[in-house]
Amino acid sequence: MEKKNGIGCRVCHYQEIDSTNIQARRLAEEGAPHGSVIVAEAQTAGRGRHGRSWVSEPGSGLWFSLLLRPDYLPDRASMVTLVAAMAVTKGIRRITGQPAEIKWPNDVVLEGKKVCGILTELNARIERINYIIVGIGINIRRQQFPPELREKATSLEQDQELQIDRNLLLEAVLEEFELYYGQFLQRLDVSLFQEEYEQLLVNRNRQVQVLDPAGDYQGIARGINEKGELLVECGQGLVRVNAGEVSVRGIYGYT
Ligand code: BTN
Repeated sequence: MEKKNGIGCRVCHYQEIDSTNIQARRLAEEGAPHGSVIVAEAQTAGRGRHGRSWVSEPGSGLWFSLLLRPDYLPDRASMVTLVAAMAVTKGIRRITGQPAEIKWPNDVVLEGKKVCGILTELNARIERINYIIVGIGINIRRQQFPPELREKATSLEQDQELQIDRNLLLEAVLEEFELYYGQFLQRLDVSLFQEEYEQLLVNRNRQVQVLDPAGDYQGIARGINEKGELLVECGQGLVRVNAGEVSVRGIYGYT
């Protein structure tokens, strides 16, 4: 998987680490190059969004982080999460044949349940990004989810006959990431894959609740614009929801 440039130029593999995102940050501070990949068999302090933990038992999933060192301004960084969701969804489809879909902006779902979460972390000064860490956790082996997640979470090997090669999956996701990140870099927006993204968007034409610090509201998700904002049709017309600011939830269940 070693490539001279680009995503996967260096792969650091650990049997066990606290969190691949934390390790990526340490390596970034030591000067690790753009495109470095940090992957672990197990994480002892795996992190999810909103300060939650991410259970990452040995061999039960693919836990990894990508280190990016871009030249664009910090206001573009939230679109990298959309690139990652595209890459994971396409990678899963290619390797397993399963109909993975995107729950805007951070999750990938299978039959309405979350199979992957993405945690994008930005280290920046006002006008300059130092680095971005994209943490990706894909549940692979059937696990015992805690009761509060049982209705919401799943893994790729739900069907016990299925045996997924984690290296192949990682390679496929990195290849797809390289492709869509390249498209993003051409225009510094998601317009080159906007239509493809919308085809994979599980929230499309569904009722969603937008959890906005200024007040929650409901509407119907119609798609995304070139900035990767979710377009939600509600009482005030079409509202643009920015990935960095709010969360979106289905009103009849997780999606
Ligand atoms: C979420 O849905 O809350 C995001 C979960 C992100 C989990 C991944 S696993 C690899 C990387 N390392 C971490 O500590 N977190 C991310």
